[in-house]
Amino acid sequence: MATSVLLVGSGLIGRSWAMLFASGGFRVKLFDTEQQQITNALENIRKDMKLLEQSGSLKGSLSAEQQLSLITGCSNIQEAVEGAIHIQECVPEDLALKKKVFAQLDGIISDDVVLSSSTSCLLPSQLFAGLVHVKQCIVAHPVNPPYYVPLVELVPHPETAPATVDRTHALMQKIGQSPVRVLREVDGFVLNRLQYAVISEAWRLVQEGIVSPNDLDLVMSHGLGLRYAFIGPLETMHLNAEGILSYCNRYGESMKHVLKTFGPIPEFSGATVEKIHQAMCVKVPDDPEHLAARRQWRDQCLMSIAKLKSQMPSQ
Ligand code: NAI
Repeated sequence: MATSVLLVGSGLIGRSWAMLFASGGFRVKLFDTEQQQITNALENIRKDMKLLEQSGSLKGSLSAEQQLSLITGCSNIQEAVEGAIHIQECVPEDLALKKKVFAQLDGIISDDVVLSSSTSCLLPSQLFAGLVHVKQCIVAHPVNPPYYVPLVELVPHPETAPATVDRTHALMQKIGQSPVRVLREVDGFVLNRLQYAVISEAWRLVQEGIVSPNDLDLVMSHGLGLRYAFIGPLETMHLNAEGILSYCNRYGESMKHVLKTFGPIPEFSGATVEKIHQAMCVKVPDDPEHLAARRQWRDQCLMSIAKLKSQMPSQ
């Protein structure tokens, strides 16, 4: 019988993990305190997998039916943990709730299962404090939508065993994700620190009237973003001169000059938020229908990029 993985919480992220683990051939148990959520999750996963199969984008070597047969719902946590090699927590982003879930799991898990959280920003030292099985605990932070954006940030608690990190890294690779090791916990981990640095400067540029909201977004979607889908900022430096040493020599002083002109942390309120709100709503009105349609378009774009990336010759 295939090895099993348990997902605790079957909302948006739990469902995505379920599809990814099933694509890797793992048996998946979906647990939730709301039975209706499990029912909805199973229905949505079936619909999504069929569509993915029709468009040739289903991950893994198994058919949609074969993958679907690996996923089952479970409403008894004691039964759910039995036989699981990896437990991925996906309950709402609330420290008290997550701590309660981990305390409960801590009391019933064996010594060889990995206990992992999907949290976007809660620190492992807060989440796993005082757990008996802390050596087996780790944060594995996915990026939405995880089926198309493979990055997973692995963030250990100071007492997490190196073997837990290695096992989780190998598991993520096995299901086709791209894990990175965050060596020490830090607020925002790495992805959100980078994202907030970009958002922050974008906001200031619009606030100071230097560029319009739509042109600001174009700088990323038709400029920097194209490059960043394939190489990161450090390799960009390396390639944009005769290596990184030459880049720092040539551009170090001018980068420092520009960086010194950066302003303070924006308030994200007042006239600027109104200006950006208006511009965004002209492009995509913020009612559920328009937002859902635009998200669907975004996911199709991401799926195409994922396909392209998998076809590019590796160097
Ligand atoms: P969600 O609200 O869609 O789903 C949460 C699920 O947890 C619901 O089905 C709820 O019934 C269930 N739940 C609540 N209490 C529970 C309990 N005690 N035991 C078991 N299940 C319980 O939330 P979503 O968006 O899936 O987020 C889950 C986690 O993933 C959060 O920590 C979030 O920060 C993280 N995350 C979310 C991303 C996103 O874009 N939505 C991206 C990356 C991480």
